[in-house]
Amino acid sequence: MLISGIVRSILKNWLRVLLCVLLTPVFLIYAALRAVIGREGAFREVYEWLAYIPGIVGRYAREVYLRFTLPRVGSNLYVGLGTLFSHTDMEIGSNVYIGPHSSIGKVVIGDNVLIASHVSIINGGHQHGSERVDLPIRNQPGEYPLVRIGDGAWIGERAVVMADVGEHSIVGAGAVVTRTVPAFAVVVGNPARILRYRQPGNEPRQRGNDMNEPALRQGERYEKAQSSPSLDNPSMAY
Ligand SMILES: CC(C)(COP(=O)(O)OP(=O)(O)OC[C@H]1O[C@@H](n2cnc3c(N)ncnc32)[C@H](O)[C@@H]1OP(=O)(O)O)[C@@H](O)C(=O)NCCC(=O)NCCS
Repeated sequence: MLISGIVRSILKNWLRVLLCVLLTPVFLIYAALRAVIGREGAFREVYEWLAYIPGIVGRYAREVYLRFTLPRVGSNLYVGLGTLFSHTDMEIGSNVYIGPHSSIGKVVIGDNVLIASHVSIINGGHQHGSERVDLPIRNQPGEYPLVRIGDGAWIGERAVVMADVGEHSIVGAGAVVTRTVPAFAVVVGNPARILRYRQPGNEPRQRGNDMNEPALRQGERYEKAQSSPSLDNPSMAY
């Protein structure tokens, strides 16, 4: 058992080294494209070719390429067939699994994270402005807030994640996460709401639970901002 594990690990590392050599032309194309169309464009253009290589060769080719192009990738990364990345401004921890056909935006992924297939992680909900009605929405600039997926989190099949997910929390299959998920929470539904905490005692200390509160209307948002706890008004702190 131990010996077969060691042999497998040696073979995997040999495959990585072999792919580093075989992918040299790919890296050269990336470097040339980067000089012409910039880092993001070159990264996406080249990665799309690797995204659809099936089997073990594809998996290791994607891992090697991401390690070469992203600022930080930990050990033991699995990226399934057809999963796309749209930003180079991201980090991936160690022991991370990303299933097939997912779409990953500008994200910091912690260690031991499990992302199922067909998951979309997008940067908030305002990638385009919509205030002006005299301009097409696609021409209005928006915001791309960084999304963080905490250590040990599990994102279920076909979830859409638009906000941070806390450490060791679970996002149920098909959930649409629009607000920060607290650590150790299990959230489900659209919009995602807290179903339970994984262990008693993990509940946040503060009163109330923002994620399960109904969304506030414009006027209510203003009133809440006026009365919310702050350093100037410590007696309001939970
Ligand atoms: C969220 C999840 C972990 C279950 O958590 P759980 O605490 O064991 O929940 P239960 O199965 O006891 O269900 C509790 C309630 O939540 C509901 N529920 C469970 N999962 C749900 C989901 N994904 N979306 C909506 N509601 C869900 C159940 O219907 C049940 O509702 P009810 O009390 O009205 O009958 C699981 O359902 C899930 O979605 N896992 C992800 C699976 C996946 O995507 N795998 C991909 C391969 S990695």
